[in-house]
Amino acid sequence: MNDKVIGVGVIGCGEIAQLMHLPYLDELPSLRIAALCDISAGVLEKLGAQYGVDALYADYRALLADPSVDAVVICTYDHGEIVQAALAAGKHVLVEKPLAFTPEEARPLVEQAEASGLVAMVGYMKLYDPGYEIGLSKIAAIGKPRAIRVHDFAGRFDRYGALYTQHRASDIPADVMATARAAAGARIDASLGASHAGYRDLYLMLLMLGSHDLAVLRGAFGRDGKVLYAQPVGGDQLLAVLDYPGGVPCTLEIGVAKYEWWDEYLEVHGDKDEVRVTFQNPYWRHASAIVSLKEEADGGESSRTLPGIPDTSFRREWKHFADCVLNGARPRTPLSGGLADLDLAVRIIRAMPPKPA
Ligand SMILES: NC(=O)c1ccc[n+]([C@@H]2O[C@H](COP(=O)([O-])OP(=O)(O)OC[C@H]3O[C@@H](n4cnc5c(N)ncnc54)[C@H](O)[C@@H]3O)[C@@H](O)[C@H]2O)c1
Repeated sequence: MNDKVIGVGVIGCGEIAQLMHLPYLDELPSLRIAALCDISAGVLEKLGAQYGVDALYADYRALLADPSVDAVVICTYDHGEIVQAALAAGKHVLVEKPLAFTPEEARPLVEQAEASGLVAMVGYMKLYDPGYEIGLSKIAAIGKPRAIRVHDFAGRFDRYGALYTQHRASDIPADVMATARAAAGARIDASLGASHAGYRDLYLMLLMLGSHDLAVLRGAFGRDGKVLYAQPVGGDQLLAVLDYPGGVPCTLEIGVAKYEWWDEYLEVHGDKDEVRVTFQNPYWRHASAIVSLKEEADGGESSRTLPGIPDTSFRREWKHFADCVLNGARPRTPLSGGLADLDLAVRIIRAMPPKPA
């Protein structure tokens, strides 16, 4: 590490790397872009020129051998094998969600990370959202909730094009990603079991979109939710009911709608008050979650909205990562949380009526 500046290698330079990680790695003083890796030579060349980076790699193993790389951020499709190799190479790791595709793949990574002494975090950026942090303090003030509700119907992902410049790969052979998806699919089917492998797409939806919500829920209430009930709602939506200690029910509704707005919130109902944390479109910068409160005041009802703080969760995630590497802070989103969320995702799917592949 050079003068307390962490050299970061970016593995997988697609959408999320370009929209959120590269700009903050470039901007924050304790981090720098040391190297880039992608299977698209065209994207590598453009980003290398844009960020002034000469160390460009088509193979992540070559990037991991580069001594100027202290840490990596993993933004490919399939993460597990790269996390394993990065930790083995002595690199600190920030891995985008999901940590892996199955709990079976994730468990050894958690053990490896814990034994390594390296910083290893899952990119659950919503846990660094300043609005969510305010919401957590309000939720804690409620005491034991009467009910919890998590609702995520997402919204249109294709509207941010006007906000950011992005280089899309057009030089990757079509079969490369198809092969990667098929290989991950086979591992998922094995993990869900023959009786539930027919839910592969729903499980993937839960990992890609819903893992944020499972993490947000875990951040507020711990990992002790038992699955009481779960059912599919068509091919791209699910309903589940969890039970938290003390008999607190939690309803989970996750699906992919095409709303023009972003539709995602955590709602907690107490005896005398309610808290709702409404998340903004994850691709918007400077747009933290908004906290709405309903409570008793002067013998009547009072509603107020806390507008949040104009910061970006991805930026705060990187500042926390740097604090962990440079100052020994404890990661707030360790790999163990990513494993807990994969475990819960499998338990939700297995609570559904059987559906063989
Ligand atoms: N935190 C969030 O809100 C958020 C948002 C979007 C995506 N993600 C996660 O980030 C990851 C990437 O998503 P994306 O939307 O950027 O996808 P993407 O397809 O736009 O980008 C993936 C990139 O990885 C490259 N790649 C694939 N395999 C590779 C390999 N073996 N070695 C090197 N490069 C490889 C591809 O060429 C592509 O450029 C996914 O795991 C996704 O779940 C997180």
